[in-house]
Amino acid sequence: MTSIRSLRPAPAAALTDDQLLQSYAPPAGPWLRMNFVSSLDGAVTRDGLSGGLGDDADHRVFELLRRWADVVLLGAGTARAEGYGAMRLPEESERWRVAHGLAPQPVFALVTRRLELDPDSPIFTDAPVRPLVLTVAEAPAERRAALAVVADVVEVGTSEVDPARVREELGRRGLARIHAEGGPSLFGAFLTAGAVDELCLTLAPTLEAGPAGRIAHSPQAAPTAMELAAVLQAGDELLLRYRRAGDRKG
Ligand SMILES: NC(=O)c1ccc[n+]([C@@H]2O[C@H](COP(=O)([O-])OP(=O)(O)OC[C@H]3O[C@@H](n4cnc5c(N)ncnc54)[C@H](OP(=O)(O)O)[C@@H]3O)[C@@H](O)[C@H]2O)c1
Repeated sequence: MTSIRSLRPAPAAALTDDQLLQSYAPPAGPWLRMNFVSSLDGAVTRDGLSGGLGDDADHRVFELLRRWADVVLLGAGTARAEGYGAMRLPEESERWRVAHGLAPQPVFALVTRRLELDPDSPIFTDAPVRPLVLTVAEAPAERRAALAVVADVVEVGTSEVDPARVREELGRRGLARIHAEGGPSLFGAFLTAGAVDELCLTLAPTLEAGPAGRIAHSPQAAPTAMELAAVLQAGDELLLRYRRAGDRKG
């Protein structure tokens, strides 16, 4: 296992899971954290998937970050591309969450306009907690009815899912700590709406070229100043944490 050390804010060698979890503790109150891995030249995928970019250290942090989540938020494109199953954290995570006053499992919330999600997918059939489907008024009625059997289908926009309404809806349900695992379209929409508090970005030590996209894209540019909160190092890989500049929480 590649050991992970801290370079900032305080230097520390070979961090344990507990130390990593403490370093990633989100602030109290509503908080939206986005997690991505990218190559040095900005590629968000290799062969269409993110898994090939990160190493064991990235995968370790990826899993640990879910522990803090009240809700794991995901764009339907990533759910389809990466073949997501049920959002079920391992027993050790469950124990840790309960000991820290969290629900045993996070809610899985999927963002989709077209509702092209199979109600018979393990996302729904194996879910430890009833998932949320966040969609729009214009979504196809038949698919909506089918998904409503296995999930809470909630309208949070007319033709596009509105990130501010997503945050309101999740807050109303007591899901303050939002952990988003992408993908790039979702990130672009949330950035444009000013709805992202933090980015956890693994910089994988590889150059990819090719046709891969970036970690965020949207029809309009959305310049957003960020400040560096933490730097971890695992071999040649960097695990960076940036907060929206000027945000005093965290
Ligand atoms: N490197 C990484 O860390 C990482 C992380 C995540 C994903 N990825 C990669 O990213 C690729 C997928 O990219 P993507 O941009 O398609 O991912 P995405 O953002 O997860 O999915 C896009 C889809 O999500 C829904 N969506 C997103 N924002 C919406 C909004 N504001 N309103 C309504 N619906 C919205 C739509 O679903 P419908 O089509 O169902 O309407 C849209 O087509 C995959 O290859 C995946 O492997 C990489």
